[in-house]
Amino acid sequence: MDNRPIGVFDSGLGGLTVVKELMRILPAEDIIYFGDTARIPYGTRSRKMVTKYSSQCIRFLLNKNVKMAVIACNTVSASSFEPLSAMFDLPLVSVIQPGANAAVGATQNGRIGIIGTSGTIRSRAYPNAIQKLNPQIEVFDKACTLFVSIVEEGWSDTKVAFLTAEEYLKDIKKQDVDTLVLGCTHYPLLENTISTVMGSSVQLINPAINTAEQVKKILTDINGLNNGDKEAEILYYVSDIGQSFQKIGSHFLGRKITAECIDIESQ
Ligand code: DGL
Repeated sequence: MDNRPIGVFDSGLGGLTVVKELMRILPAEDIIYFGDTARIPYGTRSRKMVTKYSSQCIRFLLNKNVKMAVIACNTVSASSFEPLSAMFDLPLVSVIQPGANAAVGATQNGRIGIIGTSGTIRSRAYPNAIQKLNPQIEVFDKACTLFVSIVEEGWSDTKVAFLTAEEYLKDIKKQDVDTLVLGCTHYPLLENTISTVMGSSVQLINPAINTAEQVKKILTDINGLNNGDKEAEILYYVSDIGQSFQKIGSHFLGRKITAECIDIESQ
């Protein structure tokens, strides 16, 4: 057993989609969440910058004595998982492989769509992971850059979100995919809008669910689960206090959250 907290980080509030699944699947685990709200977006930055920023996030979590770090951010998982694994002596969990596993398990017609930030799409991490599992599967991808801003603005269920989704998804729709991976932490907050545009026959994959299962498996295998009987504590940290993190985060998690601001540059 290991009663230290699990660390989770993302470039902003999107990683709360992973926290939500961890709370459901591992309710006894304490969590330290860090959202790099001062430096979002990561999705449009170079690999070098993403690696630098995310290494500071992991250092912050290590200073909080976490037992593992979950890289909730798809952009970081896609572009920087290897350099980060080489840098830190700590179990790191990426969202890419769990998302790819779920998509391959779900597709019936062997045609999968991937949407994500430009960094994630450019990395080809999802198509590579999927085709490694099954080379027969055809993958169609699209960077949907504006989705992150729409979510951060609290506009997930508006006409603006719908029209933007229609425009971004029209090519993937034409490809007759039966499965679509929401390859960015923010996109599950747009699930209703994306599902309306894609139609009910397309299954949406939220990698957060399989990622939380993967965390459970790793902790079980290394005998690292929390066996305490006190209520789990979840602490939230950000690098800049904005309205949206607490407001949208509280709405999404269905509980009031408050975040403490820290200086991430000094990590
Ligand atoms: N959290 C990022 C991801 O999952 C999206 C937001 C960003 O661009 O930083 O890819």
